Amino acid sequence: MPMSRFTDTVSVVTGGVSGIGAAITRRLVAEGGRVVVADINKEAIASTAETFGENVVGRYADMTDEASVAAVVAEAVDRFGQLDAFFNVAGGARPGRLVDMSLDHWRFNIALNLDSAFLGTKYAAARFLEQGGGGVIINVASLNSLMPMHQGAGYSTAKAGVVMLTKQAALELGGHGIRVNAVSPGLVATPLTKQLTDVPAIEAAYLERIPAGRLAAPEEIAAACLFLASSDASYVNGENLVVDGAWATTGYPDLRPFLG
Ligand SMILES: NC(=O)c1ccc[n+]([C@@H]2O[C@H](COP(=O)([O-])OP(=O)(O)OC[C@H]3O[C@@H](n4cnc5c(N)ncnc54)[C@H](O)[C@@H]3O)[C@@H](O)[C@H]2O)c1
Repeated sequence: MPMSRFTDTVSVVTGGVSGIGAAITRRLVAEGGRVVVADINKEAIASTAETFGENVVGRYADMTDEASVAAVVAEAVDRFGQLDAFFNVAGGARPGRLVDMSLDHWRFNIALNLDSAFLGTKYAAARFLEQGGGGVIINVASLNSLMPMHQGAGYSTAKAGVVMLTKQAALELGGHGIRVNAVSPGLVATPLTKQLTDVPAIEAAYLERIPAGRLAAPEEIAAACLFLASSDASYVNGENLVVDGAWATTGYPDLRPFLG
């Protein structure tokens, strides 16, 4: 039976035009929601309505920039009158060896993955408090929040920070009926991972460690995010839900032969 858990709700999805974010956007719309997608992909943002339908508004926004994040929340309220859910999905990895990593390189990873989640959480929560409480925030972290990977110092450290930010926010905001949870995907078939998994030897190295024997579809991560955002998870707060086909039971593959 089709679900309609998000009828009449308003969500923001950052990174919402591609991969996991796009799957979240599609599912929210399918369940009756209205969505503002915020992304730096100008072309995709320009065609948001054609891609997702009239209940989705696209806004160009760099989630590492504080004024832009504030403007995204304001846009959701201007267009749709309220804000009910904020999905911090924008992120990505710029790999590099720790000893060679410039401070700018490090900061790029921290800004894209951790500053963005901090700013999204801050401005969504401020709006929720203005509305009198309630509201949900979902932070997309990564299995790398728990498990290091070669050349992942900036990314993995930022994602571990996202999980602690999630717990911190749940502590500070839970008394106002605001729930903040993280989802940590394993390996998901999206444009982000395509360059890796297109190389058969690299894909095989990953799959050897993933008991499910395959990558996740973005829709499987979206389903976990929407569960946490729905009233089915009304008593779940400050949690990090790992969605990885049991990969965490085996450890990260040694990809050094494939890395520069
Ligand atoms: N794909 C995976 O295997 C995987 C695994 C674990 C975690 N994740 C996390 O899931 C999230 C989504 O990843 P994906 O695989 O869907 O990637 P993706 O590259 O398909 O989508 C990321 C989106 O974020 C947007 N974006 C990038 N920088 C931005 C910025 N500064 N401001 C606003 N938007 C920005 C991109 O334009 C893109 O549309 C990321 O946070 C990623 O770290 C992905």
